[in-house]
Amino acid sequence: MLSYQHEYHAGNHGDVLKHAAWMTIIESLQKKPGALRLYDTHAGSGLYDLNSTEARLNAEHATGIYRLLKPEQSLDATGRYLEVIRAANRGKECRRYPGSPLLAQAMLRPGDHLVLMELHPRSVSKLRRALGRDRRVHLHERDCFEGLPALVPPAERRGAVLIDPSYEIKDDFTGVASMLAACHARWPAGTYVVWYPMIRDRAAERFPSRVAETGIRRIWQMNLQVLPDSAPGMRGSGLLIVNPPWDATGRLESLAHALWKCLAIDGAGGANAGWLVPE
Ligand SMILES: C[S@@+](CC[C@H](N)C(=O)[O-])C[C@H]1O[C@@H](n2cnc3c(N)ncnc32)[C@H](O)[C@@H]1O
Repeated sequence: MLSYQHEYHAGNHGDVLKHAAWMTIIESLQKKPGALRLYDTHAGSGLYDLNSTEARLNAEHATGIYRLLKPEQSLDATGRYLEVIRAANRGKECRRYPGSPLLAQAMLRPGDHLVLMELHPRSVSKLRRALGRDRRVHLHERDCFEGLPALVPPAERRGAVLIDPSYEIKDDFTGVASMLAACHARWPAGTYVVWYPMIRDRAAERFPSRVAETGIRRIWQMNLQVLPDSAPGMRGSGLLIVNPPWDATGRLESLAHALWKCLAIDGAGGANAGWLVPE
């Protein structure tokens, strides 16, 4: 049963980390002229109204994207991320938060393609409306655990995958590790970006080791913790990036530190980045 709705969490610190990093990786891959195929396995609804009842319930964006948009912040490390968010709001107050599919769509060049998978019918309808007509974007109402292994490798041979489950279903932790291993065996050169929450839960805490145990090499890890260890709920989140583009790791490390300075609550937590599994 799918009960998770990203409408309650849009623009929170986890979104800020994954979205800014995802765009940094796309930008790095686009330094070469060859066409790219991007995949987003858990696409969500695409565009979120930060003034909706759902978004206002816990106002998670107030300690996420809203902090980055304060005029006193100078966040060069976020690259095109803030530019695209400002454009989505036509320079006015930020009420519309574009999710991962719209952020990637804004980056596509004429020959690039974006493949989206989403299982929830309501999210699929909203997403279809938010994307508009774009021949470069392919939306599948499909279970990604079956879909992604069937769709890689792409004909272009160059590209990246964003894997962003809600982890509401605890099996997602093992499911993601197995899917990653299966897809990496079929497409070892692809870049894979996997988001995970920092919460007090054995499966979540074991997740990076579980991915390392797949035997995949070149896994970069970055963590952003904004609340103390004792905080209930999600105190931060992390990314595991398989095959990060060669020039992206330095930028991702700067990004993690810049985000921590801006988002940490009373200096809690910290940021770190480095190889979980090297070459
Ligand atoms: C965390 S949200 C995605 C947010 C989106 N990636 C973003 O950053 O804007 C997770 C989404 O995955 C969808 N979902 C859950 N299980 C799925 C599956 N097996 N295959 C495809 N989508 C799934 C949910 O309906 C939900 O919309």
